[in-house]
Amino acid sequence: MFSKWWWRKRVGFEDITTRVTPECHFWVHWGASHCQTRAQTRGEWQLLCVPGGQPPLWKFMDSIGSEGLQQGEEALSCPEEGLPRPSDSSELVQDCLQQFKVTVAQLQQIQASLLGSMEQALRGQASPVPAVRMLPTYVGSTPHGTEQGDFVVLELGATGASLRVLWVTLTGIEGHRVEPRSQEFVIPQDVMLGAGQQLFDFAARCLSEFLDAQPVSKQGLQLGFSFSFPCHQTGLDRSTLISWTKGFRCSGVEGQDVVQLLRDAIQRQGAYNIDVVAVVNDTVGTLMGCELGARPCEVGLVVDTGTNVCYMEEARHVAVLDEDRGRVCVSVEWGSFSDDGALGPVLTTFDHTLDHESLNPGAQRFEKMIGGLYLGELVRLVLAHLTRRGVLFRGCPSPALLSQGSILLEHVAEMEDPSAGAARVHTILQDLGLSPEASDVELVQRVCATVCTRAAQLCAAALAAVLSRLQHSREQQTLQVAVATGGRVCERHPRFCSILQGTVMLLAPECDVSFIPSADGGGRGVAMVTAVAARLAAHRRLLEETLAPFRLNHDQLAAVQAQMREAMAKGLRGEASSLRMLPTYVRATPDGSERGDFLALDLGGTNFRVLLVRVTTCVQITSQIYSIPESVAQGSGQQLFDHIVDCIVDFQQKQGLSGQSLPLGFTFSFPCRQLGLDQGILLNWTKGFNASDCEGQDVVSLLREAITRRQAVELNVVAIVNDTVGTMMSCGYEDPRCEIGLIVGTGTNACYMEELRNVAGVPGDSGHMCINMEWGAFGDDGSLDTLSTCFDASVDQASINPGKQRFEKMISGMYLGEIVRHILLHLTSLGVLFRGQQTQRLQTRDIFKTKFLSEIESDSLALRQVRAILEDLGLPLTSDDTLMVLEVCQAVSQRAAQLCGAGVAAVVEKIRENRGLEELAVSVGVDGTLYKLHPHFSSLVAATVRELAPRCAVTFLQSEDGSGKGAALVTAVACRLAQSTRV
Ligand code: BG6
Ligand code: GLC
Ligand code: GLC
Repeated sequence: MFSKWWWRKRVGFEDITTRVTPECHFWVHWGASHCQTRAQTRGEWQLLCVPGGQPPLWKFMDSIGSEGLQQGEEALSCPEEGLPRPSDSSELVQDCLQQFKVTVAQLQQIQASLLGSMEQALRGQASPVPAVRMLPTYVGSTPHGTEQGDFVVLELGATGASLRVLWVTLTGIEGHRVEPRSQEFVIPQDVMLGAGQQLFDFAARCLSEFLDAQPVSKQGLQLGFSFSFPCHQTGLDRSTLISWTKGFRCSGVEGQDVVQLLRDAIQRQGAYNIDVVAVVNDTVGTLMGCELGARPCEVGLVVDTGTNVCYMEEARHVAVLDEDRGRVCVSVEWGSFSDDGALGPVLTTFDHTLDHESLNPGAQRFEKMIGGLYLGELVRLVLAHLTRRGVLFRGCPSPALLSQGSILLEHVAEMEDPSAGAARVHTILQDLGLSPEASDVELVQRVCATVCTRAAQLCAAALAAVLSRLQHSREQQTLQVAVATGGRVCERHPRFCSILQGTVMLLAPECDVSFIPSADGGGRGVAMVTAVAARLAAHRRLLEETLAPFRLNHDQLAAVQAQMREAMAKGLRGEASSLRMLPTYVRATPDGSERGDFLALDLGGTNFRVLLVRVTTCVQITSQIYSIPESVAQGSGQQLFDHIVDCIVDFQQKQGLSGQSLPLGFTFSFPCRQLGLDQGILLNWTKGFNASDCEGQDVVSLLREAITRRQAVELNVVAIVNDTVGTMMSCGYEDPRCEIGLIVGTGTNACYMEELRNVAGVPGDSGHMCINMEWGAFGDDGSLDTLSTCFDASVDQASINPGKQRFEKMISGMYLGEIVRHILLHLTSLGVLFRGQQTQRLQTRDIFKTKFLSEIESDSLALRQVRAILEDLGLPLTSDDTLMVLEVCQAVSQRAAQLCGAGVAAVVEKIRENRGLEELAVSVGVDGTLYKLHPHFSSLVAATVRELAPRCAVTFLQSEDGSGKGAALVTAVACRLAQSTRV
C-alpha cells in the first residue's frame, strides 16, 4: 500500500544492519516479512522475525523510530515520494488515542490497589515489597500560624532542571504576609548527571549569589532545604536519599545524608554561615504553606516535574515510628506505584517506550504517566507515531519531533489551552520544524488533551486512595478536608485541576474536598517547618547546656577517686574527714562451719524485713516484709523500736517460734560507731529516717529496751551489722574473694576489709577488720562542690538533712528522681519541655521514684511506654518531650554510676596497695534496688572501675538474699567464736 521509508546514513542503523539477516536491511518496506525490534536490554539489538503485514511493521516503526534517530547523525528524511495518507486515518487516530482512555472501573481498581499498597507499607510489611514507600517526614503538626522569623529556602528537584532560592519572612501574624524574594537558577545538564559534590557545590554557589543581592547578614542564617526526591528521614535535619527520580542522576548521593552534603558544600563555599535546619519534600512544603482555612488542610499534592502526595497520618499507624500519639506527615511517594494488575491495563505502548528511554527504566511508572517531565514526551511519542503513520504533517516528521525531550510541559499546556487558539499551536509546531495544516493543529490539540486527561484522572484515582485512607484512619463517615495543591501542572495546566477535582468527586463521593493552591510554590511551607525545626534545635541546645555538668570526663572522675583515697586515709587515722571509716568488729568472713537457726532484722532499705535463717550445709531463709509508716520512721525512737519488736513477735508467732530465744543479727543500715559486735551508737539518721532520741544512742540497747517493754519475749541480740557488711558477708559465703560490700539502693555505701594496723582506735596490728566507710557522706566537707550542680543543691536543700550525705544525694535511688524532677522544672521554665507549662504534679516532691528511672531507661521499652509512664505521672507530653525526659534520666543515672565507680576504684586500689600487689583480683558483693533494677547502672560502674583502676580485676556479685542473711552469718560466726572460747 505504501511505498517505502527511507532512512539515510545513520550510525545506529549501520551497526544494526551488520547484525541482521539480508531480509531485514537498510530499506524497510511496508509489508516486509521480517522486522527488527529492540531487545529488552538497553543498547542490545536483536532480530525479531514476524509474519508480514502491517501491524508488526508498525510495532517495529514505533519501537525503533525515535530511538534510531537519537543514535543517528542525521534525521529521518522525508519519504522519497509523498506518502499517501491512509484512507482510514481517523480510525488510526481513534486506535491510538483510545489507548489513553481509562474507564471508571480501571480508576477504581487503581484507587483500591494503591490504598492496599499504602496500608501494607504503613504496617511495615516487607514482603511483597510495597509499591509505595510511605515515608515519615518528622513533621508532626500543621502550622500554628505563630511561626516567625526570616528563613532562606533552597528548592531542589521540584521543578525540572531549576533550583530556586527564596528569602521568606514569617510574621507570626495570621493573614499578614510578606512577599518572599526569590531567584531561579538553571542547573546545567552535566551537573544533573555528574558527581554529587558538583551538584551541591552548584547549590551553594547559587545560595551565595542570591544572598549577595540581599541586604542580609552573613552570619546565623537559617535554611530550609526542599529536596524533592524519595528520602529516609531520621530527623527534621537528617535525610538519606533512597534513589534519584525525574531527570537527576548524580553519583555518590544515593544512601547519603543530603543535609550533610549541603552543609559540607556551604562550608566549602565559605561565604555565608548558614545553618541547614530542616529538610522537607516539596509535598510537605505545599501542605505546610497552606492558608489556614475553615477546614483542616491535611493533604499536600504536587504535580510538577514529578508527582507525589503527603498527608497527616495517625502516628500509631506508622509501624516504623515508635509512637502511639499524635500525627505525622507521611510522604506517600506514589510516583513509584506500579501494580501489573491495576496499572497494566492502562499502560500504552507509548508509556513503555517512554520508560525504556528514560534515565530510570522500570522505576516511577506511575509518575511517568502524570508528571510534567513526561507529559510532553508522551505527546511527542504519539505525534511522532501518527506522523510516521502518515496521519500528521503529511507523514513528514521534523528532526525535533523525533528528538527526545523536544516537547515540554509548557508546550502541552499552551497547545491544549482553548484560549491560546490555533495560531499559538501553529507557532509551537513550526518551532519544532513542522509544517502543520489546520487539521494537524486540531489533532495535536486532541492528543494533548487526551494525554493530560488521563494524567489528571490517574492522579485523581490516587488522591481518592489517600482520601479513603485518611477517612479510614480518622474513623469518620464523611471526611471534610482541604488539599493543598502545588506544582506547575496544577498551576499552569488549564484543565488538569478541574478534571482532577471532578474525578475525585466521582471516586470518593463520601469525601468533601476543597482544593487550595499553595502560595509561593511551597517556599512558605518550607520556612514554616524550618521555623519549627529551629525552635526544636534551640531547645536541644538548652537541653545540652543543662545536662553538660552531669557529663563527667576522665579527669573529673580520677579526681573524685583521688579525693576519696585521701578522705579514706584521714578517716582511718581518726583525722577530720567526710568519710567516717567505721570499724565493724567483723574480722573474718564465714568459713562454712557455722550452724544453727538465727533471727535477723533488716532495717533501712526499701523494706523492713524479719527473717529466720537456717544455716546448715546450706542457708535457708524464711522472711516477711513489714511496713514502716513514715510517721513511725520520723516519729519517736521509742515508737520505732516498739514497732520493730511488734513485727518480730508477729513473725515468731507465724513461724511457730514463740518462746524461743534465737540469736539475732540486726542489719541496721545507718552510720553507727561500734564498740563491739553488739554495740552500735547511731551517729545520725540518713535517708528518710528521723526518729527522735536515737542519735547518740546504742541501737542494740534501744532494741533491748523495747523487748523489755513488750515483756513475754526473749531475744538474744548478738550482732549489729551495716547492710554493706551484711551484703559482703552474704556474698563472701559463696566467694571467699569477696572483700567489699556495696549498696546502691535507697542510699549508697561501701565497706571493705582493711588491714587492722591501719585502723586507729582498734587495738591490734595483725589481721583484718571490715570498715564501714559511710561513703554517702563523702563530700560533706565541700570537696565535691565543683561537681555539684544547682539541681543537686536544690535536692539537698529540700531534704531532711541539708548539707549531709552529698555523695549519696548524687548517686542513690532516694534522690535521683528528685534531681530529674528539678531538671525538668528548669527545662519547663525555659520553655523547652511541656510547652513551658508548669504543672502541679511536677512541683510535687518525690513523684519520680527510682523505679521510674529504671523503667524509663530500659532498652526493651518503646518510647510509647516511656510516655505512658510519664503520663501516669500527670505530665502533658509531646513526643519531643518524651525523648528529652529520657535523655535527662540517662544523664543523671550515668553520672551516678560513674561517681559510684570512682568510689569503688578508690577502694580496690587501696586494698591492692595495702597488700603491695602489682595486680589484685577481688570481688564486690552488691545489693540495692537501683543497682539491680537499672538497665545500665551496673555496667557503667564496672566500666568506670576498669578505667580508673586498671590493675584490679574486679568481679561484681549481686547479693540475692539481702543483707539479712549476712547479718545472720555474722551472728553465726560470733556464736561459733563464743562457743570455741568457752570450750
Ligand atoms: C537489701 C538489704 O538487700 O538491700 C537492705 O537487705 C539494704 O538492708 C538494701 O538496705 C539496699 O537496697 P534498697 O534499694 O532496698 O535501699
Ligand atoms: C518525585 C519525587 C518526590 C517528589 C515528587 C514531586 O516523585 O520522588 O519526592 O515529591 O517527585 O516533585
Ligand atoms: C546510708 C546509710 C548507710 C547505708 C546506706 C545504704 O548511706 O547511712 O549506713 O549503708 O545508706 O543503705
